[in-house]
Amino acid sequence: MTWLQVHLCPSVMSVTALLRCTTRSQRQQVMTFLVQQRALSAAEAVNALRPFYFAVHPDFFGQFPREREVNENSLKQLNGYMENLQKPGLKLVQPIKLTFYIRDTKESTEKQPDIVSSGFRSVSFILHTNDILSTVMNVLTSCSLPVEHMERHEKSFGTCKSGPDGGESFHRPIKWDKSYYIFTGFRDPEQELQQTKRMEPTLHGWLRNNEPEATKKHNASLPRREELSRLKKELCEKFLLADIKWQRSWGVAHKCSQLQSLTRLSHQNPEDLINLQGHTVVFADQSGMNASGDVMLGTMDVHHQWTKLFQQLPSYRSLQQQTDWLKERISCLLGGSQVIHLGPVQPIAEHYSTLNAFHKSLMSRRLHLHPRSLHGLTMVLDNDRSTPSLHETGHFIIPINCDPLKLQLFLQSHAPEARSRTLQRHQLQVEEEAVVQLCVQRLSLRGLSKEPSLSSSHMILCCRRFIEQHPPLLQGLHVCVSHFYSVMQDGDLCVPWDWKS
Ligand SMILES: *[C@@H]1O[C@H](CO)[C@@H](O)[C@H](O)[C@H]1NC(C)=O
Ligand SMILES: *[C@@H]1O[C@H](CO)[C@@H](O)[C@H](O)[C@H]1NC(C)=O
Repeated sequence: MTWLQVHLCPSVMSVTALLRCTTRSQRQQVMTFLVQQRALSAAEAVNALRPFYFAVHPDFFGQFPREREVNENSLKQLNGYMENLQKPGLKLVQPIKLTFYIRDTKESTEKQPDIVSSGFRSVSFILHTNDILSTVMNVLTSCSLPVEHMERHEKSFGTCKSGPDGGESFHRPIKWDKSYYIFTGFRDPEQELQQTKRMEPTLHGWLRNNEPEATKKHNASLPRREELSRLKKELCEKFLLADIKWQRSWGVAHKCSQLQSLTRLSHQNPEDLINLQGHTVVFADQSGMNASGDVMLGTMDVHHQWTKLFQQLPSYRSLQQQTDWLKERISCLLGGSQVIHLGPVQPIAEHYSTLNAFHKSLMSRRLHLHPRSLHGLTMVLDNDRSTPSLHETGHFIIPINCDPLKLQLFLQSHAPEARSRTLQRHQLQVEEEAVVQLCVQRLSLRGLSKEPSLSSSHMILCCRRFIEQHPPLLQGLHVCVSHFYSVMQDGDLCVPWDWKS
């Protein structure tokens, strides 16, 4: 097994196991590598990257399939990169661009109240240094993670304190004059970034190398894709389902086997599925009902557990009704604004108790918000915050235990800004839909989607450039606009939104 595999491969090692194995020898290892400044061993690097693993480990992204997949992909690439650095002899490493979703601690969310309530931010940076120490430093600083445990390395590493060496954006406390680099012989991180950017593949070049594989995988997946839509149609028609969805971006084969399993159950006991009528079925991590009233079937559960859930659906439906009622009451109290749910899947019972607690807190004081004065605005309830904030997309982010009077003041003073941001979001969404459609037509794509974390404005920019420059070799493929290049298992292509022409 290669050096980082044990620590990085999420299916091999859980977070707790990772914790156990790094804390035990941590102190000793930090000491060791402080002494040997030049060569950082594999184990020492893993130890130094510990805060990073905690922030990005896919195990913490269970509810976010795409973010999880991005982190898994990037960890694999980081693994490969670090392995190359371990090899003896001359190292000619190819620069690679990585994107990670970083979980935010409470502390950092307070500092940046504009971050989405789902509690993470995406960071992209380029790996280009050819020794382990500077690569580790690059990863930590690019992700704005603590580097104190590496402090005494600085001397051997002149530029590291001055910013995320090679990161996409420089949050540098000190910006040295160019002459500093000439004088000291240290590398100018800004210049290096420009150089690595020049070395990044162009979309055209990348497609030339990867389109054959994508087309082959896509061709091979066609029978499975047909089977999938056939099974889906059959189940929806037979049991009058609103839709069938998936919580994660599983491969087509995996989705097929889930539908086959439900079909088998429906053949054995058709009457069990009658309660599903009118619902959307979601294949998910756990069985239950989510806060939107969709029926989630845990993919690890056996038929017996699904059947039990179907039998309980009537009582779930009454919980859903009470939830809707609470939302209406809250909306009345708060000038017609709507509580919505973004972010991780929330079971309906949990959603109900969140709303209930919020409703109780609102009832504790008499609020004076004009009816309908906040109509058309939306709010997301958040357990983890202490102060209300306004998200850049126009959603209010409200702590459940917010003092009602403080809340009222905040809503009133921020309503105009919330309105203008909401309006802008809607306009961007409309523009995005139009340009995506046009792009699919002009480039003859089979599909075009984006990673959920990508903003409408980035997607619009990317699609406009697709239309202007009309890159070849994309016909008939599914393209997902993202932060990195990748060919997925069914031949879908991930392309960074800011691809180079
Ligand atoms: C994919 O399928 C198309 C149409 O069936 C065919 O023309 C093409 O040669 C196939 N490509 C690959 C790489 O298998
Ligand atoms: C319920 O599941 C569906 C399908 O995955 C999803 O679109 C929706 O956002 C979920 N609702 C909540 C509140 O989690």
